[in-house]
Amino acid sequence: MSHAHRNARIPGFHRKSPQERLRIVAEFAGLDSATTDRLADTGGLDLDLADRLVENVVGSMNIPLGIATNMKVDGEDLLIPMATEESSVVAAVCNAARQCYDAGGFTTSMSGTLMIAQIQAIDVADPHAARLRVLDRRDDIKALCDGCDPVLLKFGGGFRDVEVRVIDSLGGPMLVTHLIVDTRDAMGANAVNTMAETLAPHIAQWTGGRVYLRILSNLADRRLARAHAVWPLDQIGGAEVRDGIISAYHFAAADPYRAATHNKGIMNGISAVVLATGNDTRAVEAGAHAYAARQGHYGSLTRFETTKDGALSGSIELPMAVGLIGGATKVHPTAQASLKILGVTSAERLARIIAAVGLAQNFSALKALATTGIQKGHMALHAQNIAMMAGAVGEEIERVARILVERGTVRQDVAQAVLQELRGA
Ligand code: MEV
Repeated sequence: MSHAHRNARIPGFHRKSPQERLRIVAEFAGLDSATTDRLADTGGLDLDLADRLVENVVGSMNIPLGIATNMKVDGEDLLIPMATEESSVVAAVCNAARQCYDAGGFTTSMSGTLMIAQIQAIDVADPHAARLRVLDRRDDIKALCDGCDPVLLKFGGGFRDVEVRVIDSLGGPMLVTHLIVDTRDAMGANAVNTMAETLAPHIAQWTGGRVYLRILSNLADRRLARAHAVWPLDQIGGAEVRDGIISAYHFAAADPYRAATHNKGIMNGISAVVLATGNDTRAVEAGAHAYAARQGHYGSLTRFETTKDGALSGSIELPMAVGLIGGATKVHPTAQASLKILGVTSAERLARIIAAVGLAQNFSALKALATTGIQKGHMALHAQNIAMMAGAVGEEIERVARILVERGTVRQDVAQAVLQELRGA
């Protein structure tokens, strides 16, 4: 069927109800009623609520929520809710956590809960002198910032510092003011963006320049979460496994092609908890990757080394701008349930736990890669997906998947053949 007649110019689409929008989309795309019913079923998220979270809502996209067991963080046993569509991610955290549980699990810390907002000024005649003029206004800047958010102040947050940088840009020197703000249990984007916008006209006046961008930086390097764990040799399978993991880390540290994949694995764990708690996955991901490149080359977010007793020591450090209040965290029922499962009462605690999950994830990935390879573990779950795609239902899924793995050919055509054999028998 040709779609040449379809028209995506739909005036007033945003003013319609989700149901009306879905009807329009169904007609546009030729969706059958089974498909639209699926879309309209938003599961644990109210359609009305979804409609208030983002624009032009027609349904919701459901992602599995798995629970990682065995995690001990700073002496406390935890169950970790993880929202992910990728197989093996939850299992990886369970396995890594089990192998360091007896040795004490994860210890964590945090550099603070400070966010940075940037104000860009251009066409400043005397940028270095202007820098000092802005710095001289510290008290005014503090008053203006703190005036923006009395609630944040009440909870002990607010303006902490101002920094001004003269940076070289393609268009000449640029004056960049950083507002450094303690945002406590909020992720803080709203708070610091409001402050930056409030400050901007004053910056223009003090510097004599023109102000354009006023926005937070996702390189939240004053909000670093850190986690550390020790894996005893008898838990991980000996010195050769340890050395394989350390060598894998050396590979990532030396090569951006490997570091991208290494860090992607870390984010498999991190983004799953960030998403489960209704936080902004892209903010955390942007911060992580920018931090990984802070030394001028892109490297590893984790480090692995040998303790004096010969055990494997792993650590991680990365920006972790997550909050407990505001945004989807506060209104999404699954996010609220996830926070309840975690038992966290501060953004800092959440950030520290998430860092530990990232380290756990990375340990398991490197261990698998340095030993049996990841396909063995992946294939078991992947085979189930393939079995389902081939039409297996109920108990057939497990049976078909097992046969595929045994035969070493996890392919849909083989799955179809196996399914036919089973059904024929
Ligand atoms: C797959 O999603 C993640 C891994 O590629 C991570 C890694 O290579 O370290 C297994």
